[in-house]
Amino acid sequence: MANVRVGIVGPTGYAGMELVRLVAGHPRMTLVYLAGSGARTGPLDAHLPHLHPLADALPPVEPLDVRKAADACDLVFVALPSGESGRVAWGIFQSGRDRGVKVIDLSGDLRLPPDVYEAWYGKPALPREAIEEACYGLPERHRQSIREAALIANPGCYATACALAVLPLGDLLADVTGPIVFDAKSGVTGAGRAPKEHLHLGELANDAYPYRVGKHQHTPEIEQALGGAVRVLLTTQLLPVPRGILACAYVPIPPDQAPMVYDRYTSFCEGEPFVRFLREGEMPHIKAVNGTNECHLAVHWDERSRLLQVFSAIDNLGKGAAGQAVQNANLMLGWPEREGLNLVPLWM
Ligand SMILES: NC(=O)c1ccc[n+]([C@@H]2O[C@H](COP(=O)([O-])OP(=O)(O)OC[C@H]3O[C@@H](n4cnc5c(N)ncnc54)[C@H](OP(=O)(O)O)[C@@H]3O)[C@@H](O)[C@H]2O)c1
Repeated sequence: MANVRVGIVGPTGYAGMELVRLVAGHPRMTLVYLAGSGARTGPLDAHLPHLHPLADALPPVEPLDVRKAADACDLVFVALPSGESGRVAWGIFQSGRDRGVKVIDLSGDLRLPPDVYEAWYGKPALPREAIEEACYGLPERHRQSIREAALIANPGCYATACALAVLPLGDLLADVTGPIVFDAKSGVTGAGRAPKEHLHLGELANDAYPYRVGKHQHTPEIEQALGGAVRVLLTTQLLPVPRGILACAYVPIPPDQAPMVYDRYTSFCEGEPFVRFLREGEMPHIKAVNGTNECHLAVHWDERSRLLQVFSAIDNLGKGAAGQAVQNANLMLGWPEREGLNLVPLWM
């Protein structure tokens, strides 16, 4: 299937504008529909000047019409705030089901069972039918189900960085002797584009601090992504940089398993197009993954504390959002996973 007609709902948001950049550069996708709240309409590059070079390839932004999205597109990415996003994704999926329209929702609305969602998001969940229809889109764990799915719940940014940090441990995860502690730090675009006082330059510049301690909604998502057998403690911290996530996992593996860890990471990453196990002595940098769909991993067994440290870096808008969504689309459409995602970051 070539020249798949693609729609993006929420192209003026941070995740949506990254989707526009990736879809416009994808050799088998054509952007045919862009829609938002109606607050920003018309030529997208009039709102986002970095998209001027794409102006001729972009349809104008219109107020969202679910029926039109389902009729005009073969594939729709939905990147709206939680609460709204899953509802819209489910509506487009239902309207386009007969035509086989594929939908990828970037919010948390379709990722968790209804009771867990309501407890952590504090919002009413979507109908159970919608949540059961959606496939959790972490390719490194659910590749085959994603290939067969028509509705995807694209994983959260912290959840992706943290789950990928420890998934290479495989069945060793069942032997951990206590909770896995994740200390994760994110750039400010993770909070979305709507202005908030604590995100102003004057507030955040020269600062860094923990937030949503004990209640970050990606905690149950990480536990679910790891198969439900491991308890997770997640600390999320805000960094005064625009994008990128750096997560450090502290994993209490049985010490006699430590000599096997390096081989497990090596063989896991050998088969993965976007997860790179760095050479010994190298450490992940957010600058080395920003603008890409890559995840960089490094490990250190600490003999004194008997804890395994794993370091993981992703771009919250790349592997944490738009990049992973395009990777999922490639899988759903039977294309090579790296199609449209051969991206090199800007280091300077
Ligand atoms: N930012 C990240 O790093 C990241 C990572 C992973 C997942 N996500 C998820 O992706 C989704 C979008 O996040 P974001 O950071 O891109 O948010 P954002 O920057 O705040 O953008 C939100 C977008 O939604 C549109 N919108 C808001 N209400 C709408 C409505 N009622 N109908 C139609 N459009 C509406 C806005 O359009 P207008 O300009 O027209 O108002 C805007 O384009 C969220 O669910 C978020 O959790 C984000």
